[in-house]
Amino acid sequence: MRLLLLAHAFNSLTQRLWLELEADGHEVTLEYDINDAVTRAAVQMARPDLVIAPFLKRAIPEDVWRNVPCLIVHPGPLGDKGPSALDHAVQAGRPQWGVTVLQAVAEMDAGAVWATVNFPMRRAAKSSIYRREVTEAAVRALRSALNRWEGGLGRLSDANHGVEDAKPAMTQAARAVDWAAMDTTEVVARIRAADGQPGLRDASLGAEVWLHDAWPGEGRGTPGAVLGQRNEAVLRATRDGAVWIGAMTLRLPDGKRLKLPATRAMALRGLPLPPDTDAPGAPNGVSVTRHGDVALIRFPFLNGAMSVARSRALEAAIRQASASDARALLLTGGPEFWSNGIDLATIEAAASPPEESLAAIEAIDDVCLALLEARQWVVAGMQGNAGAGGVFLALCADRVIARDGVVLSPHYKNMGNLYGSEYWTHTLPRRLGPEGAARLMETRMPLLAREAVRIGLVDGTRKGTPEGVEAALLAELMAETAAPGFDARLAEKARTRPDAATLAAARAREIARMRLNFFGFDTSYHVARLNFIAGVPKSRTPLHLARHRQAPGRRAS
Ligand code: COA
Repeated sequence: MRLLLLAHAFNSLTQRLWLELEADGHEVTLEYDINDAVTRAAVQMARPDLVIAPFLKRAIPEDVWRNVPCLIVHPGPLGDKGPSALDHAVQAGRPQWGVTVLQAVAEMDAGAVWATVNFPMRRAAKSSIYRREVTEAAVRALRSALNRWEGGLGRLSDANHGVEDAKPAMTQAARAVDWAAMDTTEVVARIRAADGQPGLRDASLGAEVWLHDAWPGEGRGTPGAVLGQRNEAVLRATRDGAVWIGAMTLRLPDGKRLKLPATRAMALRGLPLPPDTDAPGAPNGVSVTRHGDVALIRFPFLNGAMSVARSRALEAAIRQASASDARALLLTGGPEFWSNGIDLATIEAAASPPEESLAAIEAIDDVCLALLEARQWVVAGMQGNAGAGGVFLALCADRVIARDGVVLSPHYKNMGNLYGSEYWTHTLPRRLGPEGAARLMETRMPLLAREAVRIGLVDGTRKGTPEGVEAALLAELMAETAAPGFDARLAEKARTRPDAATLAAARAREIARMRLNFFGFDTSYHVARLNFIAGVPKSRTPLHLARHRQAPGRRAS
């Protein structure tokens, strides 16, 4: 079928659905929901069999849904309606939730039901549920809806009725935390229901911030008081204990919003910082654990973003594990993201974004170098999505495995034509050949892990949850290190490893080009970074997505 995706942004769910639909043989194109006239024009140009709306913030114009069937992917179970479906489910601690595919009609989320898939809820942030359970359920539900459509099986019901009902948009008043009255469980649930966007508004420290990345902690104090800091997160007292806050959003004087590690946000707001603490449970830390001959290294950084401080912590952990008698290193990132490269938010907040960009690239390059220099067998086990430098960080391992369903964006062009570093000029041609490497660098599209295996970018996929895939990879690697022949593999690695001069030349070549991106005449990277981090709404759909707008015979990739 010819499918036109209509979406507020090309977010993770929209990317995944595009790629799965295309793999199923459909012809896919996309238009951002900018205004009604643009949507009408897109429908006229694309002449789709169906419009699919994976992520919309407002209604589809009536003349559009009356002319072309429009299927909405709603993140709620049968009967649920409204724009804050997941927020309500997470805040109320619902044990089960779902995704329903409905046809657009005049009343929001009330149309005919084409498919519905339920799932058990984890205790996690809204964004985490969205990226994991909602995304997997949406793939299944949309596939089932399209099968029904194509097979002429008809709708499941003529209207969206069920046990659930319509819920209002969730306001900050409905989210508000009362530090004196609420216990840790409730505070965590409320912050998680607002995460990643819009965050939970809080002015109790004396300045307006939005709270994110909440985890139960241990401590005692006046409710709301800041007890300590660790990994740039802060520990705040609740009525019955404490809660870690990993990140806070600030509103800049020009109205733009910036999400930062909590201590940086507090410093920028002029709030006093608490002393360091070793209280357990702080998010965004790096951990190394030993399992037989394998050192398992986790780095679950919020949004996969690597500031100078986070890259330095990861580099230290890798160097420490490489200096031990471990014979293999398994790096798994975090369950949400493997890595999205350098942290663009801390760069935006720095006194000199160009200098901070360079420092962040040198720091992530040092992480890459620690991997390239390790004498152990190094495996990158990507449990979550990865973008830009994060993908190339993984290529510094000897073997790269990704969870089936992971979406990779292995290019830098979308961030203002960045040249890219992370030793990609060394690692990528070794995997794809010079032409394949050049081709990949010219694209702007994401790809599924299984497609990445087909082109040779990664070595394999494993099915399962992020935790299940990590456990399976660890068991495999422990068995491999214990098997005969492993020493020979390490000896072969030592024999074929790149020499220091080759690596230094690659790095110098890349940094020279990155300096031009950071300090040169062309400011595209700085503009793209600000637009991305501040979430500036899109004013047009890029041609590599709006295929219906491309000249016949010319396809932007
Ligand atoms: N630095 C800081 N924050 C980042 C980030 C980065 N490198 N990459 C992603 N994020 C944040 C986003 O701002 C968003 O924050 P929000 O929850 O406050 O909205 C969150 O992570 C999720 O990102 P999103 O874009 O919604 O995820 P996605 O899965 O839809 O898209 C990517 C994935 C990789 C395509 C996209 O995140 C991206 O382009 N990231 C930037 C990659 C990059 O250019 N890195 C620098 C060069 S190495």
